[in-house]
Amino acid sequence: MIFRQLFDTDSSTYTYLLASRRGGEALIIDPVLDRVDRYIQLLEELDLKLVKAVDTHVHADHITGLGALRDRTKCITVMGEQSGVDVVSMRVGEGDTIDIEGLSLDVIYTPGHTDDSYSYLFGDRVFTGDTLFIRGTGRTDFQNGSPVDQYNSLFNKLLKLPGETLVYPGHDYKGDTVSTIAEEKAYNPRLQVDSVDEYVEIMNNLNLSNPKMMDVAVPANLKMGLNQEELAAMGLAIGSEEGIALVGGDGDILVDLRDHAEREKNGVIPGSIHAPYTDLDEDVHPGGMLYELARASGKRMIFYCAFGERSAMAVQAARDGGIELARNLTGGIDAWKKAGGPLE
Ligand SMILES: [Fe+2]
Repeated sequence: MIFRQLFDTDSSTYTYLLASRRGGEALIIDPVLDRVDRYIQLLEELDLKLVKAVDTHVHADHITGLGALRDRTKCITVMGEQSGVDVVSMRVGEGDTIDIEGLSLDVIYTPGHTDDSYSYLFGDRVFTGDTLFIRGTGRTDFQNGSPVDQYNSLFNKLLKLPGETLVYPGHDYKGDTVSTIAEEKAYNPRLQVDSVDEYVEIMNNLNLSNPKMMDVAVPANLKMGLNQEELAAMGLAIGSEEGIALVGGDGDILVDLRDHAEREKNGVIPGSIHAPYTDLDEDVHPGGMLYELARASGKRMIFYCAFGERSAMAVQAARDGGIELARNLTGGIDAWKKAGGPLE
């Protein structure tokens, strides 16, 4: 396994890079915009293909690297379903997994620092974002934070993990890098409380000033979508209504780019075929499944995903590969559901 803990000195943020092998797929957690060049270089040095970039929550102290990594590597951006970010490629909730080749993260919803805070469990280690720090916990006084929620996330979820579980936090301001659940239970001063009320009392009296980047970072982190309207203006997209009218006919090919887990959870458009986004590069070039299908059929190929972001990138890649009749289903399954489109 490849595991790297990277540090941004400006915001004291930890970023984690994971892969099962050299030459394989990689996943990154909480990348920082200013450090994207360094991540790209490391990916190249380790011969890794970045396929997913994941944030634990909407950050207030730095600008996320998710949008830049998506633009430069075509990776899938992942956040929790509560996040108010305009467009992320994939949204996850409690009990879901985030999968790449050879490894899988268990998704744990741990609100409190913010209402969209998640932790990710990977075998013997847990990435706790700003929910649990080494000898500290994340503040709860902005972005719909709640000390009560955080108490529950800590005491009813994270602290119930096996004591030897390694704790990898989203920040550290003192130079610590890793701890364990047992160590934090014993020595984290914020966790030495006897009741939720005692915890709330501590958290409500921290009197912290706002992070200096907050007014810039939060709005920037909420807006990182690709412009799907641009594809629509170029005549390379169809809306849900038009798409619904196509179901059952044989005029077009609908292509689902989502992962297996997303298909099972949210349903599939009847009659569509499955071609996971991570395999797209091979699929849209001569010899690839989609390329050959498009050539043989002469039909339009309509790509869809969860929110339209992956499919917008796919339309570009497919056209570059030679599939001229590639189109985007604007807004993805999210918009499809809202328009009452059929799913199976
Ligand atoms: Fe945070």
